[in-house]
Amino acid sequence: MDYAPVKGTHDVYGKEADELRYITSVLSATAELYAYKEIIPPVLEYTEVFSRGTGASSDIVRKEMYTFSDKGDRSVTMRPEFTAGVVRAVVSNKLYATEDLPLKLYYVGPAFRYERPQLGRFRQFNQFGVEAIGLDSAKADAECVIMAMQGLYMLGFKKLSLKINTIGDDASRSAYRAALTSYFAAHIDAMCEDCHERLSLNPLRILDCKVAKDQEIVKGAPKIKGYLSEASDKRFYETLSILNDLGVDYEIDDSLVRGLDYYSEMVFEIHAASAEGADYGAICGGGHYGGLVKELGGPDLAGVGFAMGLERIDALLSEGHLLDKIASGIDLYVMPVGAEVLEEAFKLTEQCRMLGYSCETPLQALKMGPMFKKAEKRGARFALIVGQDELDKGVAQLKDLAAKAQKEIRLADLAKELDAAFAPYDGDEDGCAEGDPAPKGETEKK
Ligand code: HAM
Repeated sequence: MDYAPVKGTHDVYGKEADELRYITSVLSATAELYAYKEIIPPVLEYTEVFSRGTGASSDIVRKEMYTFSDKGDRSVTMRPEFTAGVVRAVVSNKLYATEDLPLKLYYVGPAFRYERPQLGRFRQFNQFGVEAIGLDSAKADAECVIMAMQGLYMLGFKKLSLKINTIGDDASRSAYRAALTSYFAAHIDAMCEDCHERLSLNPLRILDCKVAKDQEIVKGAPKIKGYLSEASDKRFYETLSILNDLGVDYEIDDSLVRGLDYYSEMVFEIHAASAEGADYGAICGGGHYGGLVKELGGPDLAGVGFAMGLERIDALLSEGHLLDKIASGIDLYVMPVGAEVLEEAFKLTEQCRMLGYSCETPLQALKMGPMFKKAEKRGARFALIVGQDELDKGVAQLKDLAAKAQKEIRLADLAKELDAAFAPYDGDEDGCAEGDPAPKGETEKK
């Protein structure tokens, strides 16, 4: 039998693994610039965390969760998103009491949704996201949006489209819900089965319906703007004015309500154009949530956050050739010339690794030709060649595999020699430009 991966999942290796690691590192570094700390919540949660947190009327909870009974007959769910689980972790660990507020947490990892697999849509996918909990303000909302944009620009996106909206506070939403209920009740017979259910569960969800004939009806639905309380209206425009002051372009999209139940006030999505005209959907979605912490048993604290789909980001950056330069090759391939120097080459390889250089040696006697082939396959920048003659003299040959230039180096000065070879060239004798980071061997793992 030929086992394939489960439908909607795929194996990540080689170039894609390098790219996802790179994307994660840039986004994590951005979050740390904004003083966020990492949280690693479990993949499994009791189902209630999502049914109460993410919300009974969301498509995720209604149709898309990987839920099963464990051997103790408890219903558990593989997270379809992080926010409810992160808030559960904040409440379980009473982080709101022991840590300074706002709690600023970022996370990365897989999420699972039983959706129809298609371009940019998987059943197992990876999210990077953040949650800031315990500061309820238009400024915190704006900072969250700005950080998401900043992270994506750091990755190399040139043009992003930010869609933003407000769905108001509880009072605004209950007035809006009543207006939507009476509007959709008059049209429901012509709408899809899902919308019948949405009408009784939460008519806001109808605004997300993707069925073409329903979308026509949705176009004529009342807009949130007419139902916003004064406080929500003021808050939203404060957020927008911060974005204006910082020159962040946005489009107010009054049909954007987001598909998860915990949102209140500001919600947003970020899209990026595909070089090949493909539609991957949003690369980032998020917003403010007023009642979630309390809903999951904690104090009355609000939060704001976003999550990004790493596979969609990777696909868009790759199409635009923005990841072509991420280096994945090793620094050095150590080549023992003859079986008698295998052991010394092994030690030398370890020494180079201790100096912070990634390297490999064949661990068996090979001819020079196959060793150069292996070095090329590993993407090595340099070959470090050692034979008995060299070892007797305390030297080795360092060969730049791209420039084909070769130089004898003294093994007693290994750190200095490697640092000089790997330092970016600036025309100076010492090979280091002013302000360049210190070379590896002088700073790391000595
Ligand atoms: P979401 O909009 O459901 O929000 O997901 C965030 C991002 O995850 C989407 O914009 C998309 O890039 C990616 N994504 C979602 N589903 C899939 C899929 N099936 N395949 C590939 N990528 C996907 C949330 O998850 C909220 N927890 C965001 C949030 C955090 N709101 C407040 N804090």
